[in-house]
Amino acid sequence: MTGRIRNASLAAKVVPAEAAAAVIRPGDTVGMSGFTGAGHPKAVPGLLAERITAAHAAGDPFRIDLWTGASTAPELDGALAAADGIGLRLPYQSDPVARQRINAGEIDYVDVHLSHVAQLAWEGFLGPLDVAVVEVSGITEDGQLIPSSSIGNNKTWLDLADRVVLEVNSWQPAGLDGMHDVYYGTALPPNRRPVQLTRPGDRIGVPHLQVDPDKVVAVVETNAPDRNTPFSEPDEVARSIAGHLIEYLEHQVTRGRLPAELLPLQSGVGNVANAVLSGLQESRFEQLTAYTEVVQDGMLDLLRSGTLVSASATAFSLSPAAIAEFEAQIDEFRDRILLRPQEISNHPEIVRRLGVLAMNGMIEADLYGNVNSTHLMGSRIQNGIGGSGDFARNAYVSFFLTPSTAKGGAISAIVPMVSHVDHTEHDVSVIVTEHGLADLRGLPPRKRAQLVIDRCASPDYRPLLTDYYERAERGGHGRHTPHLLAEALSWHTRYLETGSMLPA
Ligand code: COA
Repeated sequence: MTGRIRNASLAAKVVPAEAAAAVIRPGDTVGMSGFTGAGHPKAVPGLLAERITAAHAAGDPFRIDLWTGASTAPELDGALAAADGIGLRLPYQSDPVARQRINAGEIDYVDVHLSHVAQLAWEGFLGPLDVAVVEVSGITEDGQLIPSSSIGNNKTWLDLADRVVLEVNSWQPAGLDGMHDVYYGTALPPNRRPVQLTRPGDRIGVPHLQVDPDKVVAVVETNAPDRNTPFSEPDEVARSIAGHLIEYLEHQVTRGRLPAELLPLQSGVGNVANAVLSGLQESRFEQLTAYTEVVQDGMLDLLRSGTLVSASATAFSLSPAAIAEFEAQIDEFRDRILLRPQEISNHPEIVRRLGVLAMNGMIEADLYGNVNSTHLMGSRIQNGIGGSGDFARNAYVSFFLTPSTAKGGAISAIVPMVSHVDHTEHDVSVIVTEHGLADLRGLPPRKRAQLVIDRCASPDYRPLLTDYYERAERGGHGRHTPHLLAEALSWHTRYLETGSMLPA
């Protein structure tokens, strides 16, 4: 016993992880914790995958429908997908094995806005939830659950599931206690009340998750790390993208369109997002706040230096080095970092009220500002929409960032027409690549097209885009949003046929 389970009746439910995995039956719908590789259950999923493999070997079908907060880790999504144990998966995922099965048509993947998941589950639209498997960092004397390094949809899973399995992970810092803000005031219409959150650092809930002890069928003790991806320094392209964005923000402040301390920042994850955060570190900005999904290395640096006053999120996504530093300074961070359920961290009402500056990556954008965040060449899912739509539509300014080309220049990220639409032209304010920034707000489609080509496209593709646009303007079916429909997606088909969007 690690001392993390201070409630006697739940301590009496501690079982070996094998016994907990046996609670899950073929055909169950299972809600697991986990968000960007943080706070997912570490023991039960792998043992469940072993059971599934054994069942398949004996000729017995065994698959579960799997709901999470967002992406998890190889020992969860990877193991269950490898065992062919997932029938349906929602919402965001980024596991290579699961991705391969989804794109092979072997897993049904439902890609929903992260803020919508709890609501869909509560209204019963997704069907019943049989089991919740939730990692926590401790259990209090009175049976409340101290959340782990992510909250995600855990509140909803614990409330809705018929049976609950808890993994108590002593690897998680005990000092996480007090960093969470779990809001229990949500309801379905017509009984919804305004969410009284007016500053990113406001506390509107309670520090612990509640669970009906009678539903808890197993408690497992673990001591295992989150999926901590080592931090890679931003490359030149990412630094250029960040440079354009920060220059733009400075300009907006000078013009009086943004306050000196900006508005709460939301930042996606990955190389470009990290470059933006590093750029802010070196900028003249101070007294910043963040209302975002994930606290990553760059955000911790900003908090440490004092550039960032506070950060609200639903999960951590830290490198091993950053975790060590975080743990060492956890007491200083506790009042400045808040983790909330994802239905609150991504809540459209709050994102709109706070005036969030949303910065997200994308796969491709078209001449008119429609953005594809999820699909490669129209048909293959990469990850999912995640929270990008929750933030983009409701942000004060919605930025989409990408290198201008992919696959060594064989693909242009600026195309005549996107091969899949996640964010329509109505939700996209600003597009940024290493070549420049296009502020599309208030512009009609034809002006947007010219700006996107001039500012954002790679010089290799600019003449081709200009040629397409000019011919579309002359010969298209109408001049509001000029297109040559038969040709609009020919760049994608050319890439699929020849390996490059550039003509031979
Ligand atoms: N066409 C085809 N393939 C493309 C492409 C394009 N226009 N742009 C990128 N790719 C390929 C890359 O070559 C790479 O392939 P590889 O894995 O075979 O090397 C892959 O897509 C991922 O590209 P990469 O540049 O490494 O992506 P990233 O890590 O910067 O992430 C997104 C970009 C869009 C995939 C990512 O931001 C995402 O999942 N966004 C949606 C969710 C979101 O915005 N969440 C934010 C939290 S609110």
